[in-house]
Amino acid sequence: MSQFPVEPVEGIYLQSHSVGRPWLGAQQAVADRFFQPWSEQGEPWGQWLEGIGRFQTGLAKLIGGKPEQFCPQVNLSSALTKLLGAIEPDPKRAVLLMCEEDFPSMVFVAQQAQAWGWQLRLIPKGSDVTELPMWQSQLTREDVGLVFVTQVQSNTGQQAPVESICSFARDRGIRSVVDIAQSMGILPMQIESWQADAVIGSCVKWLGGGPGAGFIWLCPEFIPQLAPKDVGWFSHANPFEFDPHHFEYHDEAARFWGGTPSVMPYLLAAYALEQAAEVGIERIRAHNLALVDMLVVSCPQWIRSPTEVHRRGGTVIIDPGARLADVEERLVKLKVHYDRRELGLRLSPHLCNTPEQLQQVAELLSALAAK
Ligand SMILES: Cc1ncc(COP(=O)(O)O)c(C=O)c1O
Repeated sequence: MSQFPVEPVEGIYLQSHSVGRPWLGAQQAVADRFFQPWSEQGEPWGQWLEGIGRFQTGLAKLIGGKPEQFCPQVNLSSALTKLLGAIEPDPKRAVLLMCEEDFPSMVFVAQQAQAWGWQLRLIPKGSDVTELPMWQSQLTREDVGLVFVTQVQSNTGQQAPVESICSFARDRGIRSVVDIAQSMGILPMQIESWQADAVIGSCVKWLGGGPGAGFIWLCPEFIPQLAPKDVGWFSHANPFEFDPHHFEYHDEAARFWGGTPSVMPYLLAAYALEQAAEVGIERIRAHNLALVDMLVVSCPQWIRSPTEVHRRGGTVIIDPGARLADVEERLVKLKVHYDRRELGLRLSPHLCNTPEQLQQVAELLSALAAK
């Protein structure tokens, strides 16, 4: 049994990089916060919007910023599409810099944004995104107007030095957008200290907050310069004005909200944010580091993700080379939940795991690595 309040599952679940386990009490929280006001108290919007407010407050508490600087979004792709469409690129600095290793969905969005004047430039696969000089060599090029930084890459497990990259970019007048999909709920962070212009994320992975509760955080000075194309009455300064001849952007991040919002995903995610804050993000990270290290020492020659704490996320990537089939067979027998990408097997120990479980996986790996 895990020492943390998350739902158990049969086997050894190591896929929190994909979907985190639900917190104990999550179903009850949805019943109380979503269905109860709807079924028992008549028109539920007041309570529902209060619940979305709890989501914004929970985000601010866990990752920094102020509640009103966050706007709910369905997912990161949608958030990035809206953001890029809301900025007029300077034709002399129209390059949008990204990495080929960023999550493909983000690259697809940037490709589409070329229709709005952006020019996509990809830092090639294999570049060491954990090194600031690599970013500096790209950011000193005169034509870069915006840099997209994935804090933790899903396929390499690398952690980029976001704070140094964003402050370097800001000094050169380059906008920065940070993707925290793979770091949310596993890395301690204070996003307002990064000097980023925007941060986009979701709650489905390490946070265990379910799909559909994405968000965008905007630096307060940046907000007045943004004119989203995708709007609706919740983007309006006064949603209840109902004058079709007068639209005025909301003066906070809510200008990115759009029409009638979905509700349930944010109520569920708010509960997850509250639970994670209660456990403490430092404790969550320490647990992950200790369990990952058990795997790292079991087969050091197979490790493909960084091992230094400041360069790694929560996932360890293992490439057993010629022993791949044997390793996979044994993992399946042990009922380990994992997946495989180009660099190797992705294993993500988290709150649902115990040291005893990881000991079993480590023994399996070291026995095969020694052969
Ligand atoms: C780094 C990163 N960014 C973004 C996403 C997902 O983006 P979206 O919310 O648009 O599906 C993922 C999903 O695995 C991811 O790992």
